[in-house]
Amino acid sequence: MRSIDEQGYRFEEWLTPAQIAADVQQVAKQIHADYKEKEPLFVVVLNGAFVFAADLLRALNDLRCEVTFIRVSSYWGMSSTGKLEFIVPLQQVVDNRDVIIVEDIVDSGMTIHQLKAHMRAHGASSVRVATMLFKPNKLEYDDARPDYVGRELSDEFVVGYGLDFDGFVRNLDAIYKVKE
Ligand code: IMP
Ligand code: MG
Repeated sequence: MRSIDEQGYRFEEWLTPAQIAADVQQVAKQIHADYKEKEPLFVVVLNGAFVFAADLLRALNDLRCEVTFIRVSSYWGMSSTGKLEFIVPLQQVVDNRDVIIVEDIVDSGMTIHQLKAHMRAHGASSVRVATMLFKPNKLEYDDARPDYVGRELSDEFVVGYGLDFDGFVRNLDAIYKVKE
């Protein structure tokens, strides 16, 4: 098992690249089944979701769709600040579109709760959420329960595959869990 040290913490490999790839394929299969008659607009939440989105969208090779990006920030260190900041706002018209928000991880659900309200306020006809990871025990917003999930975990801090620890380790090819 691989491990890394970052800012005094030890992280151990939890999902290998092969396991992640299988999870992504399973999510893509579900999305394809639900959207093959539609032309969804994927809204990728930067920064964390860029790796998952790149794999997910290429696994949806046969789906006619559009992709846009939004950048928000809510985290500092290992916990959520509870406030969402729009660093790069929505660049594309979501009015009358079937929107699929692409996230790296849903934790308290605050980010998704606010983003869904934002998409609806801008006229999206439907809004669903695809996330690589989901912490169901930490969910505080009922409407933020994701529709497509790669993998669930409990209340643990994870990094890699787009997920950062104060900006670093997003480039790891696997997902690592902090060692208690
Ligand atoms: P939420 O708004 O509480 O659901 O938090 C969602 C955001 O917090 C995600 O988009 C991540 O950027 C970040 N986040 C939550 N849990 C983790 C984690 O375990 N590792 C790294 N980032 C995390
Ligand atoms: Mg994020």
